[in-house]
Amino acid sequence: MSKFLKVLSIGLWLVAFIGPAQAGGGNVAAGKAKAAACQGCHGVDGNGGADPSWPKLAGQDADYIAKQLADFKSGARKDPIMGGIAAALTRQDMKDLGAYYASRKIKPGAARSKKLAELGEKIYRGGNAKTGVSACMSCHGPSGHGIPPRFPRVSGQRVAYTVKQMMAFKSGKRANDGGTMTRIAFRMSEAEIRAVAEYMAGLH
Ligand code: HEC
Ligand code: HEC
Repeated sequence: MSKFLKVLSIGLWLVAFIGPAQAGGGNVAAGKAKAAACQGCHGVDGNGGADPSWPKLAGQDADYIAKQLADFKSGARKDPIMGGIAAALTRQDMKDLGAYYASRKIKPGAARSKKLAELGEKIYRGGNAKTGVSACMSCHGPSGHGIPPRFPRVSGQRVAYTVKQMMAFKSGKRANDGGTMTRIAFRMSEAEIRAVAEYMAGLH
């Protein structure tokens, strides 16, 4: 083999072996293989399974996903189902799964109530000055796509899941957020939470 061909074949082998590099150190193809275990609840492409309180993962930020998996594993975020699943994952698994789901496209949802979505839009864009609730938009972005790596995507998510998370932040049951979301949700009424969740479901 000529020297040139040798170098070329090593180069090709490296590309095939390492695969495309992803932000955050995850590998999409490896993540896809590992995601077979997640499909039953999160859907084939991360667009959600049968139960509406099971979140969509498609289009979510890779680092946010890896952080949540690490938090489920350490117990910083508590969930009886995900705690058990994350316990078996390595740091590299978490990065690969994050890269895979981040590469999927989220199917937009829709608000079921126009009236609720209108109130939700006010809170999302302007907050509530009277009760000191900050505008969601300032951290989650004008279209709810999030601002990586700290602020997750919240648009297109299922209403039941979003309400469950906001109520968990409000009560302090979910407290893996460094105090940001717990402080905001604490100041919100359940009606406001429902309204903003409706609005975000249809936001894209
Ligand atoms: C038996 C059902 C089930 C399976 C299987 C499952 N999950 Fe979950 N997952 C859930 C539920 C339920 C929640 C919501 C927990 C909560 O309410 O806090 C969740 C939440 C998550 C979250 C947090 C999402 C967010 O927006 O904060 C991530 C990330 C996640 N799962 C990843 C995975 C991965 C990766 C796998 C496969 C290795 C997996 N899940 C397998 C049920 C499941
Ligand atoms: C100052 C920044 C900030 C503001 C303002 C903010 N958030 Fe957040 N939000 C965060 C951070 C940070 C997280 C991720 C916490 C973590 O790492 O677990 C988060 C997470 C969330 C989640 C969980 C997403 C998931 O997939 O589980 C929801 C839902 C959410 N925010 C909704 C809202 C709503 C609704 C508002 C407005 C009323 C709002 N946020 C305002 C910073 C903010």
